[in-house]
Amino acid sequence: MTPQPASSEDAQPEKGGSVPVHVGIIMDGNGRWASRNGFPRSVGHERGVEALRRTVRAAQKFGLQYLTVYSFSTENWRRPVSEVSALFTLLKTFVNRDLERLKKEGVRISVFGTREGLPDDIAQLLDRAIHETRENTAFNLGIAFNYGGREEIARATRQVAEDLKAGRIGAAEIDEALLAGHLDTSGFPDPDLIIRTGEEHRLSNFLVWQGAYAELVFMDVLWPEFGESYLADALDTFASRERRFGGLKSGAA
Ligand code: IPE
Ligand code: IPE
Ligand code: MG
Repeated sequence: MTPQPASSEDAQPEKGGSVPVHVGIIMDGNGRWASRNGFPRSVGHERGVEALRRTVRAAQKFGLQYLTVYSFSTENWRRPVSEVSALFTLLKTFVNRDLERLKKEGVRISVFGTREGLPDDIAQLLDRAIHETRENTAFNLGIAFNYGGREEIARATRQVAEDLKAGRIGAAEIDEALLAGHLDTSGFPDPDLIIRTGEEHRLSNFLVWQGAYAELVFMDVLWPEFGESYLADALDTFASRERRFGGLKSGAA
């Protein structure tokens, strides 16, 4: 079983270190948590929603401005239909139960990913969450749903190609900023920190463009157990890292 950190409810990251502006989280390990505890996988996903609630609250408390959570990947369609529909039902439960509260707390919801293949009720629900929170500015929650980094880049490239074909832009104008502006995440800064729970050490197609210089923190905890104290630990790890962006250590020149 995953060890619990000593810190409790009122965990706080260490003072003095830098706090990331945008954190991305790959919420992995629901199924393993369920099977290790003798439950069907669906129970792991349900507990995962509770972990998501705790984490959004903690992110607000710790002063992050942007949080992006990976909820359903373009590759997750490879799972059995029953599991896919359980994951969709959970999204519905989360939005239906939490939207009012998030609205009141000033949370703006953005959704990243393709609408292709999504049932109409899910697409409408996502639109509702985006629309009803569009004026909020206190905190930004990105939900990566039916999201794949490569699909996002390919879709952005198609839009750029259309603009080029129609003569709205010239080839020389295509640069990193232009392409980034066509990604679903435009409006969000690049993630400073990407956390993955669940014992695997890979990105699984999450924010592959945006995460070019993100600090990566892999945690052995399974997602349903995640919460404030684990987020505090990840922020401490982030604060201890030295980011160079290809340059030199400060003071080394
Ligand atoms: C993460 O948990 C949730 C999603 C990928 C949607 P998993 O369902 O991947 O759980 P494991 O990795 O099988 O334990
Ligand atoms: C990544 O987890 C996707 C989400 C958390 C939504 P997966 O469980 O799908 O990733 P792999 O299959 O282990 O790479
Ligand atoms: Mg997994």
